[in-house]
Amino acid sequence: MLREGGIVAIPTETVYGLAANAFDQGAVLKVFEAKQRPSFDPLIVHVASKEEVHRLARELPTGAQELMDAFWPGPLTLVLPKRAEVPDIVTSGLDTVGVRMPAHPLTLELLRALEFPLAAPSANPFGYVSPTTAAHVAAQLGDRVPYILDGGPCEVGVESTIIGWEGDRWVLFRPGGLPVEAIESVIGSVANAVKQVLPAAPGMLESHYAPRTPVHVGGIVELLPCFAGKRVGVISFRKTYAARRCVVLSEHGDLTEAARGLFAALRALDDGGCVVILAERFPDEGLGRAINDRLRRAAAR
Ligand code: TXA
Ligand code: MG
Repeated sequence: MLREGGIVAIPTETVYGLAANAFDQGAVLKVFEAKQRPSFDPLIVHVASKEEVHRLARELPTGAQELMDAFWPGPLTLVLPKRAEVPDIVTSGLDTVGVRMPAHPLTLELLRALEFPLAAPSANPFGYVSPTTAAHVAAQLGDRVPYILDGGPCEVGVESTIIGWEGDRWVLFRPGGLPVEAIESVIGSVANAVKQVLPAAPGMLESHYAPRTPVHVGGIVELLPCFAGKRVGVISFRKTYAARRCVVLSEHGDLTEAARGLFAALRALDDGGCVVILAERFPDEGLGRAINDRLRRAAAR
């Protein structure tokens, strides 16, 4: 299907992606159509090996090779100066391309079998929570995607960390599945992206990852009485709250485990007829940064 210009949903260690031949404009267009994704939001290109990055990037900025050696395959996307061969539709006309080598055995096998890299955003309708199981993809895009490669539940559970080279330094575009602290241990400090002007980093759109149910972050103890008698959903790190539905993401206080279950919890509460979803603020370190980022966006509507 991919060789014939079709789209296929693929598992990765972060979230499921909706994939097409990155060098085939028509195929990539189908990804945008299926997701109802605006064309100003560029896609990440997935490669089978570190060497394959050179088919997409015209040069590697300082530190890029060290980062690839340290973290690929894994949840790190590098935004690199792009080669002319990469179609504009993939990069929304930007002069850069986001590239990563995913750490999922099935998808690496697929990538190695193909003659081309795969452009793939998360396999969800634009603006909704990303899928971390094949069933999530089927529930929302089932009628638009002819094939879902089921690789089981995603190990990491939040999207990749995205960094880009801005003239003379690395900048964080999106916190994600690889802790920024790990990146900094290899290349030194990474700057925070000032709020970007579109289309530079549309993953930063405020109301991304939003369930239909309103989400509030923080102040659960104070807010719970306001919803007395109502069906309230709570997403907590380790504590249990007296709410109708309370999802504890990690009893042992492990942020990696919490990230893995975050999107499934948001979906479950969203589908569970709650009037509101109250979420804790997580420790702002390691994967807690990605969790807080996704919750903040889910709350911004
Ligand atoms: O873990 C992931 O990153 C997953 C899996 C499937 O790989 N992909 C993913 O893609 O989450 P998604 O839906 O977030 O879309 C790609 C995002 C864009 O929204 C944008 O923020 C960023 O990647 N991006 C891609 N190319 C870029 C570029 N040239 N400059 C800046 N940001 C870029
Ligand atoms: Mg997405």
